[in-house]
Amino acid sequence: MGEVGDRLLAWYDRHARTLPWRTPPGSGEAPDPYRVWLSEIMLQQTTVAAVGPYFAKFTERWPTLQALAAEDDAEVLSAWAGLGYYARARNLIACARTVADGGGAFPDTEEGLRELPGVGAYTAAAIAAIAFDRRAVVVDANVERVVARLFAIREPLPAAKPSIRAAADEITPDRRAGDFAQAMMDLGSGICTVRDPKCLLCPLSDLCVARAEGIAENLPAKTPK
Ligand code: ADE
Ligand code: SF4
Repeated sequence: MGEVGDRLLAWYDRHARTLPWRTPPGSGEAPDPYRVWLSEIMLQQTTVAAVGPYFAKFTERWPTLQALAAEDDAEVLSAWAGLGYYARARNLIACARTVADGGGAFPDTEEGLRELPGVGAYTAAAIAAIAFDRRAVVVDANVERVVARLFAIREPLPAAKPSIRAAADEITPDRRAGDFAQAMMDLGSGICTVRDPKCLLCPLSDLCVARAEGIAENLPAKTPK
């Protein structure tokens, strides 16, 4: 495995955020695909902090996919109130019923997941990696920032998206892709932050081109709207 993957996974083993939808890294505990899917749908347009209480409420009321699929729409929609983007809740219900009607098991590949209501390319990659340990390239805004800095990709967003994705693909390991993806998210949200990258605490600092060049805070650049 590449140096970036090794370093980041070792860092994640010590510093992973404890989040209600995660299993501890290295525990060997298989994540529940239902909980991974539910969390990823909630996290699409909502912060980790805001999702927490909703994730707890949903998993208490509907501990399984089957329970959620059998619930009345109105109950689910009212439990969703406050999370916003109601199309997500509608798709959530449709997806739960699709999977339940098909036998109750989520598809375990990106391509299969992509066909479900409410599951776009990003979400399919995240679920495939986190729930099924598939090698998938998971690129959200945090990951974009880390990758742009690591490789000092100066091209502004959104034009840089394909280069950033290609670089993310290069560093994604063949094993523990879900832990790797979540490690990149944690690094981006806690260490390699937008305004104030904490390079002294970063496990990748001696591999990072933007840090070496003193331009970390300026990346990724953005084309003005
Ligand atoms: N944002 C989207 N998916 C996430 C995850 N699994 N952990 C933390 N933040 C996320
Ligand atoms: Fe981000 Fe600094 Fe780490 Fe580079 S060294 S990835 S800029 S925190």
